[in-house]
Amino acid sequence: MNATMSLEKIKHYPVMLNQILSIISPQRGGTYIDCTFGAGGYSKEILKFPNTKVIALDRDKLSENYANPLLKKFPKRFNFFKDKFSNLNKLAERKLKPKAIIFDLGLSSLQLSDNKRGFSFESENFLNMEMGINDYSAYDVINSLDKEHLGSIIKILGEEKEGKRIANEIDKHRRRKPIKNSKELASIIKKAKRKNISYKKNPATKTFQAIRIFVNKELTELILGLIGATKLLSNGGILIVVSFHSVEDRIVKNFFNLHSDIKSNPSRYLPLKESKSNLFKTVCKKVLIPTSSEINENSRSRSAKLRYAVRNDASFINSDEFEKMFLNYLELEGASIW
Ligand SMILES: C[S@@+](CC[C@H](N)C(=O)[O-])C[C@H]1O[C@@H](n2cnc3c(N)ncnc32)[C@H](O)[C@@H]1O
Repeated sequence: MNATMSLEKIKHYPVMLNQILSIISPQRGGTYIDCTFGAGGYSKEILKFPNTKVIALDRDKLSENYANPLLKKFPKRFNFFKDKFSNLNKLAERKLKPKAIIFDLGLSSLQLSDNKRGFSFESENFLNMEMGINDYSAYDVINSLDKEHLGSIIKILGEEKEGKRIANEIDKHRRRKPIKNSKELASIIKKAKRKNISYKKNPATKTFQAIRIFVNKELTELILGLIGATKLLSNGGILIVVSFHSVEDRIVKNFFNLHSDIKSNPSRYLPLKESKSNLFKTVCKKVLIPTSSEINENSRSRSAKLRYAVRNDASFINSDEFEKMFLNYLELEGASIW
């Protein structure tokens, strides 16, 4: 049995699908951009409505296996690009007028369950953690990145208080011999963590999150993706983001707050903004979460948070203010690892 066949047996649940469909109302037709195609959960549902078109992107080659049947079935209504969503601006000249642009961030259950990718704590395969179209792997980061930067990544991107201790322990091990797989890395992290705390999750969870975010430059992707999507949307277009951890959600929330009237000022440290920077006429005031029945059926959905906003007709010219807000993440992810 090859890897794809066995992965196809994994049940795939598109997270918060019903809420998304009720926000985007595909029964009225229109063009949709699915920035994180994965196994095509959202795209397939949208294409069930006859007057819809879907343009989908995913950086992972694995997604082509799920996109190809849709390309065959809907040659005029579906298109797929193996690309990163930071490159959404490439679609600008097509004058698509999308009704909605959707991001469902993070890893798919297929990626998580594929032992070869090195995302799980138990994997004894190469320490990879790449989603696709990467400059380096987790192996490179763990074995080459300088100790101080490694500690900052773990602390800031993983929100792991013990980042420095963990980086020191990793450094101690890699000086003797390279750290080759996720299982080995998870046990080194466990050793570094304080013993008097009982952990509900695997003690390596936050560090793995940090390394994965860094390897895939996920926050830079999100920041550029939000900017690109907002530029592509015209008056009435909807921007929807489903995120899975607080660092991502903070970026999305601040982006919507900064460019709408929802709060008079997104941060008390910033000067009061003028309404000319408003790009959204409606922003969902409260974050949406999965129903308890969805969480019962698919426990991975439990940390999902959905935010959306509806575009006004102002042009989006300057993204400096937003990029400045998260410069620390952009600089952290932009560091050279060699
Ligand atoms: C949570 S899954 C999406 C699942 C999808 N909604 C479904 O129902 O099948 C996230 C997907 O986004 C992709 N992805 C993550 N970051 C990306 C990026 N910057 N550009 C393009 N694709 C990305 C991943 O490869 C993964 O396949």
